[in-house]
Amino acid sequence: MAMKSLLLNQTKQLFTKPIWYPRSRRDLDCIDKSHRNIIDDLGNSYPGSNDIDYMNWLSSMRNYDTPADSDVPDAYYPEQANKTWNILYGKLKELHSLYACDEHNQNLIELENKNIYTENEVPQFSKVNNWLNSKTGFKLVPVGGMINARSFLYGLAYRVFFASRYIRHISSPFYAVEPDVVHDLMGHVPLFANEEMAEFSQEIGKKSLGASDEKIDQLAKIYYYSVEFGVIGEKILGAGILSSSGEIINVGEKKCKVEPWELKKVLNMDYVLHDFQPLLFKANSLTEMKKFVFEAVES
Ligand SMILES: [Fe+2]
Repeated sequence: MAMKSLLLNQTKQLFTKPIWYPRSRRDLDCIDKSHRNIIDDLGNSYPGSNDIDYMNWLSSMRNYDTPADSDVPDAYYPEQANKTWNILYGKLKELHSLYACDEHNQNLIELENKNIYTENEVPQFSKVNNWLNSKTGFKLVPVGGMINARSFLYGLAYRVFFASRYIRHISSPFYAVEPDVVHDLMGHVPLFANEEMAEFSQEIGKKSLGASDEKIDQLAKIYYYSVEFGVIGEKILGAGILSSSGEIINVGEKKCKVEPWELKKVLNMDYVLHDFQPLLFKANSLTEMKKFVFEAVES
C-alpha cells in the first residue's frame, strides 16, 4: 500500500506543471493584473459614489495599464483631487515628524527639497520614478486596484511596485476603502528609496517566483507585518500606518499592542483590513527588520 502511494506521488510530481513566473521586468506584462472591484462591492457606500465627475475620473484612472518596463505618462488630476492631496499631505507630514522612522522622514524631506512632492498637487509617477531609480532602482507601475498576492509579489522581485494613481474622494479624506495614491506616495515611496528596505522587499518577491500557493500566503503575511505594518524601535516603518492619520495615532500613542517580531506569531495573524491594527510586531532597527525578514522568507 505504502509503495503504491509512493509511486502515485512520484507520478503526480512528474506530471505537475511547473508554475510559470516572470524572468525579467518585461515579463511582468504577462502576469494577471486583474483587480478586485471594490466599487461594485460597496455600491452606494463607496465614498464619492454620488459624485458623477469623480466616478468618471476614477474609472479613467483605473482603466489604464502601463507596461512595467516603460515610462509612466503623467496623469490628469482635477482640482478636487489636488485639494484632497493637500488636506492629507499637511496632516500626515505633521504626524510623520512625530512618529515615523528617521529613514522615512529623511527621504520625505529630500522629495520636498527636490520639488518632487509639493503640498498643492498630487506628484506624478514619472518624477517619483526618476528619483527612486537614482536611489534604489525601485519603480512604481500603475494598476487599477488591488491585484492578487502572487502578481503583486512577482513585481517586488524586480523592484517594481504596483501602485494606485487614483485618490480617495474629498468627502472622506481620512479614510480610504482601498490603497490609493496617498497610501503609495506617503507610505511606501520614501522607504523604497532606502536600500535596506528595498533589499528585503525584493527578497520577499524573489522567494515568491514560482512558489506554491501556501508559500505565497506566508510571504504575503511577512510582507504585511513588515513593509505594510512594521514598527522599528519606537517609530513607525509600515506604509499602512504612515498613510493613515488614525493608524499613526493608534500606534504612535501606544493604543495598539506592539510585540517583538516572532515569525510563528506573524504567520498566525489574521489580516485586519477595515479597522485599526490591534497587534503589530517590531524590530529594534531597520537593519534588524531586514534580518528578520530574510530569515522568515527562508523558513
Ligand atoms: Fe501598501
